[in-house]
Amino acid sequence: MAIRSVKGMNDILPEEVGRWHLLESEFRSLAELYGFREIRTPILENTELFVRSIGDATEVVEKQMFTLERDRESFSMRPEGTAGAARAYVQHGVNAREPVSRWYYLGPMFRAERPQRGRYRQFYQAGLEVYGDAGPAGDAELIDLVVTLYKRLGISDVEVLLNSIGGPETRARYRQVLLEYLEPRSSELSEHARVRLNDNPLRILDSKDPRDKATVAGVPSVLDHLTPEDREHWDGLRRALDALGVEYKVTPGLVRGLDYYTRTLFEVTSNAGELGAQNTLGAGGRYDNMIAELGGPKVPAIGFAFGLDRILLAMGERELARAGTCFVAPMGEPALLRGLALGRELRAGGIRTEVDSRGGSLKSMLRRADSMAARICFVLGESELERGVVQMKDLAAHTQTEVPLDQAVTRAAEVLASKPEGSTT
Ligand code: HAM
Repeated sequence: MAIRSVKGMNDILPEEVGRWHLLESEFRSLAELYGFREIRTPILENTELFVRSIGDATEVVEKQMFTLERDRESFSMRPEGTAGAARAYVQHGVNAREPVSRWYYLGPMFRAERPQRGRYRQFYQAGLEVYGDAGPAGDAELIDLVVTLYKRLGISDVEVLLNSIGGPETRARYRQVLLEYLEPRSSELSEHARVRLNDNPLRILDSKDPRDKATVAGVPSVLDHLTPEDREHWDGLRRALDALGVEYKVTPGLVRGLDYYTRTLFEVTSNAGELGAQNTLGAGGRYDNMIAELGGPKVPAIGFAFGLDRILLAMGERELARAGTCFVAPMGEPALLRGLALGRELRAGGIRTEVDSRGGSLKSMLRRADSMAARICFVLGESELERGVVQMKDLAAHTQTEVPLDQAVTRAAEVLASKPEGSTT
């Protein structure tokens, strides 16, 4: 019998890889715009790293790691990127060189899950980690970055679920509150949850078992049990998000499957495209104690990881190709000279742009704009030039607006951040 790939580990064929390049480059350019720099860490780490950071009473460490022994040492394939990045941060004494570090990474992660649509054993994450900023304004800015990427990709209907689980003191308090609520009801819980009651009661809030779901429906909210400092952080985060105009849904039942989190937790969900049941497009949160627990200095941190496989499921092919791209079609030499400058301005504004400098007909230029699936085409002729304006065509929405040349970059950015009218995503 022919040998097939491992279940849940998929090939990405040449005809599919273009979509991945576009998504990855959209992520890179936005992350760099916000001052993030790339870190590349090994796929294999000492198993101990994941046990210490993610926690041994988590599904990921307990059941999902691909672990191998070699010369009596235990190694595991990384199930996520935060632990490896934090290890590198500590190992290279980065905090001594810079007070704040913003890192991003892209790459495959490995978890031995039961494969289904949107859930694989080898999947891809694009992650962001910020070290040295205790927030909460920094938390809000990271969430804003995250939401901006989904918008740029044309994924509508994203919902940001937000919670705070506080620091160790809040957790200890809330653990007590949870136990007082759940212990008298333990006979209604699943077997698995009854074990968690002893080692990790917070995780019961995240259980998919219908018995547990019914039982935790009435639990007191963690937000009512935050210490004054944690409360201040939470309130500050909400003020900063409101000031930025970022929408979110306070979700006190949100807990995460990894044990390293403190205070801010967030997840982005969507029902777009072909996502189905695995509708969490990405998730993250603050982890102020991990760096110290890994033997480093006391440095606060927060991060987020986009699930790239799921983003691709969420978006229509055309929308992905259109994301973030501008085309400039100048008619005649004076317009071309201004058009080249416009191209430069757009790129300086972080917008990927191609200027058609071939001097062909408008029709041939529009055909080219369409074939590269640009979202916006700027048409600049003699009469526009005289009046200091340019025609801005939204090729997804099929609209055309005349805009002043000196506002072209801002207007283009607005269009790129908006959902294309009539789009299916
Ligand atoms: P996570 O929630 O385990 O968090 O994963 C983040 C995202 O990766 C998920 O929301 C999902 O989109 C994607 N993902 C996870 N598992 C799979 C899978 N088996 N198949 C396909 N996609 C998957 C973390 O990994 C944290 N490191 C996030 C973070 C960064 N927290 C702080 N910094």
